[in-house]
Amino acid sequence: MVSEIMCDCSAIRNQLEFNINLVYELGRQGKLEEVCTASLLITEAISFYHRHWEMDLSGLYPSLISAQPAYQLMVLMIARQLACQQMYDAAASIAGTAAAFRVPGNFFPLFHAAALREAGNISSARDIAEKLLVVDPEDWDALSEIAQCDMQELFLPQDYYDVLHTIHTRLKLENYLEIGVAQGRSLALARCGTTPVGVDPATGSKEEIYFHSPEAAPQLFRMTSDDFFSSINLPEILGKRAIDVAFLDGLHLFEQTLRDFINVERFASPDSMILIHDCLPVNALVAERNRKSAFWLGDVWKIIPCLKTIRPDLDIVTLPVKPSGLAVIRNLDPSSRILERQFDSITEHFNGLSLPESWEEKCRLCCVTDKSPEQLFGIR
Ligand SMILES: C[S@@+](CC[C@H](N)C(=O)[O-])C[C@H]1O[C@@H](n2cnc3c(N)ncnc32)[C@H](O)[C@@H]1O
Repeated sequence: MVSEIMCDCSAIRNQLEFNINLVYELGRQGKLEEVCTASLLITEAISFYHRHWEMDLSGLYPSLISAQPAYQLMVLMIARQLACQQMYDAAASIAGTAAAFRVPGNFFPLFHAAALREAGNISSARDIAEKLLVVDPEDWDALSEIAQCDMQELFLPQDYYDVLHTIHTRLKLENYLEIGVAQGRSLALARCGTTPVGVDPATGSKEEIYFHSPEAAPQLFRMTSDDFFSSINLPEILGKRAIDVAFLDGLHLFEQTLRDFINVERFASPDSMILIHDCLPVNALVAERNRKSAFWLGDVWKIIPCLKTIRPDLDIVTLPVKPSGLAVIRNLDPSSRILERQFDSITEHFNGLSLPESWEEKCRLCCVTDKSPEQLFGIR
């Protein structure tokens, strides 16, 4: 097993080196926006593997920096690297230097604002976003930044990847089902001994995902969750009837999340757990059904008051972890059919629910717990 893990670590390094070469190529073609997106993703990946897999890939930073085709981008990448190494004050000050280049558009100022926010200087981050809103009151990126400032002040310091990391490393799962894979970040937290299964209409092969677990290769299904549950024999894939943990993070609409919940619960045991992402919106903008801002949750949160009302037998709490809360649902009952039977009337009723104004009310409605993830899972 050790040599297999080492082999996968070198595969991860090779993949990142390959991607740095692509950045270099994109730069030669003058595709600055693509360079920036790809470089930020590489920086994030280096940080992800360090944080969750204790892999030191920082030796790749110099080649990533020298692959940047413009001085401003170089400065930006240095700032991001410092932030990934938790040197937030230094990152904010370097991001300020990048913003001083006065490149047109909101990208550089908002990059600076995000770095200031991460460094804990929320009021300066807000000032930058508010100045942009004076120029364009519908600058959704600036509105996103303000929502993230609120989130930084109200949420726990951990993010949902930290909680998933704790679950995977401490609870020793046999299987893990994920609805909504995207670049594979959350799926890449699965450990040795777990069978990870991912479902996403936009991601169907190992080559398409960016983040990889060095220990557990996933089975990927390129289809919607509805198609998955109607066409795939899940127990056969899992090697047993019950799901240990399912993470719902697919289409961010209430009725779809409810359908995903109903479908997953049919394969639950008394020890199973369903996690639902995006159950605690910081404000109404990020909770709209139509996506406007980059920081967006949709109206998934409605599933919490819905389950609380219709299924009082469930054990439901939401951890206020960044960026949008993570609901933990236990005491599942695979024989329950009430949600399925009343689906139309339930969705009609809860679609009409509005997000309360006050944070306290939001927390009450979304069943926010004051327990830490460790306390919740009985981990010492
Ligand atoms: C927020 S991303 C998932 C992020 C990922 N879980 C993570 O944390 O790294 C949401 C994903 O859900 C996928 N998706 C959208 N509709 C879906 C559906 N009906 N069934 C399954 N996945 C869906 C999208 O293609 C997108 O990749």
